[in-house]
Amino acid sequence: MSNPPVRQDRPARARTGRRLALVLTATGVLVAGATIALAPSASAGTTLAASAAERGRYFGTAVAANKLSDATYVGILNREFDMVTPENEMKWDATEPSQNTFTFGNADRIVASAQANGQRVRGHALAWHSQQPGWVQNLSGSALRSAMVNHITRVASYYRGKIYAWDVVNEAFADGGSGGRRDSNLQRTGNDWIEVAFRTARAADPGAKLCYNDYNTDGQNAKSNAVYAMVSDFKARGVPIDCVGFQSHFNAQSPVPADYQANLQRFADLGVDVQITELDIEGSGTAQADNYARVVRACLAVSRCTGITVWGIRDSDSWRASGTPLLFDAAGNKKPAYTATLNALNGGSTPPTTTPPPAGGGCSAAVTVNAWNGGFVATVRVTAGAGGTDGWAVGLTLPAGAALVNTWNATPSGPSGAVQFRNVAYNGRLTAGQTTEFGFQANGSAGTLTPSCTAS
Ligand code: G3I
Repeated sequence: MSNPPVRQDRPARARTGRRLALVLTATGVLVAGATIALAPSASAGTTLAASAAERGRYFGTAVAANKLSDATYVGILNREFDMVTPENEMKWDATEPSQNTFTFGNADRIVASAQANGQRVRGHALAWHSQQPGWVQNLSGSALRSAMVNHITRVASYYRGKIYAWDVVNEAFADGGSGGRRDSNLQRTGNDWIEVAFRTARAADPGAKLCYNDYNTDGQNAKSNAVYAMVSDFKARGVPIDCVGFQSHFNAQSPVPADYQANLQRFADLGVDVQITELDIEGSGTAQADNYARVVRACLAVSRCTGITVWGIRDSDSWRASGTPLLFDAAGNKKPAYTATLNALNGGSTPPTTTPPPAGGGCSAAVTVNAWNGGFVATVRVTAGAGGTDGWAVGLTLPAGAALVNTWNATPSGPSGAVQFRNVAYNGRLTAGQTTEFGFQANGSAGTLTPSCTAS
């Protein structure tokens, strides 16, 4: 019997940067000190992976097997990234093109390349309504359910011990305001298909983190609320889930949400890791660079955001190449978006966290609202006045019918009506002009929220 695989939690390159402090005692005996010192590695701050590792994160990319013979592509891949996601090669149509006949050749080439270069692998994706082989599309009911369980078991067992995290279920929730599941042949096998998929994956590879992965869930909206409710339910009932992936495909129609960080945080607060799994941002120049930096900073601000994966290397490698959404141009040159990403990882271009203090001391508060039919999320920015704060409280009156569902980075005095939101332990003390944010989700409509801020 083989040993169970060890869950691979720590970035490989971060490990290489740690060393034991050695102390010379008065008697001249060299002893191992009690502290672990972080030694800067030679490449710290100069590549995406090294800079992310210094912050305890990985930095990954989607990889296509047919590009592993492209020297420019491979050169960037192995210089910049320490996590790899096969872009298409582990999908159902690629790995089980006919029932019970498994083909792992292309995926194996990516895994072998990753292992040879000290990179870890995110597996993508075990159960998905899309990219199903024809024989799966023709199944339904218990035959499809059995085929799904067999597929997950065989694929996750084959790669057992080699996968950092699996996207066990991909894109299972509906777009728009319904807040429900996406209709699909898998969904029609019964609402429990997702938890069956997760339990099956856990049994097949107990060492892999198991993720739910989706798009348009990057901010707080009806779809992400539905995923949030599922994750919350899974945690309450002991269904094995370790992480939630936020694909983060952004463009002008779907920009980086204002509440991106808050949304990552509320999922993390459920006790799962969060990962940015398929990042790309259409655009160019400074605007694109700024958006990449925002995404990186949001991840770094959430302690359980364990890493970022971009969905391809060069613009020309992207599934939407015309939008030039990636960090390298078609020739493999670093774009401004690359530099902004690296700087953000290095903490070098963090925007000022201070704004001019409000006149007269105390504090001020400003609210932004993201509403949908039946609910809303409010993000409240608190700014300390000239005297700074030891603590603060923000008063808000929720309209009749509105009730809090969830609050982060503050403690509410009650669920409805006139509510005082008090600072929590880590964000009460602000220097003059310093800002902090808290947020809440509520049912009902937001109406006009007029905050008042009191400093102590
Ligand atoms: O390799 C064949 C090629 O031989 C053939 O000539 C050509 C003709 O259509 O197709 C090629 O395969 C395409 C494959 O990408 C490789 O380029 C498939 O048609 C095409 O459907 C496939 O698209 C992929 C898409 O998922 C659908 O699976 C994209 O590469 C991939 O980037 C995209 O990734 C998805 C994530 O898995 C889930 N989240 C959204 C994300 C973007 O759509």
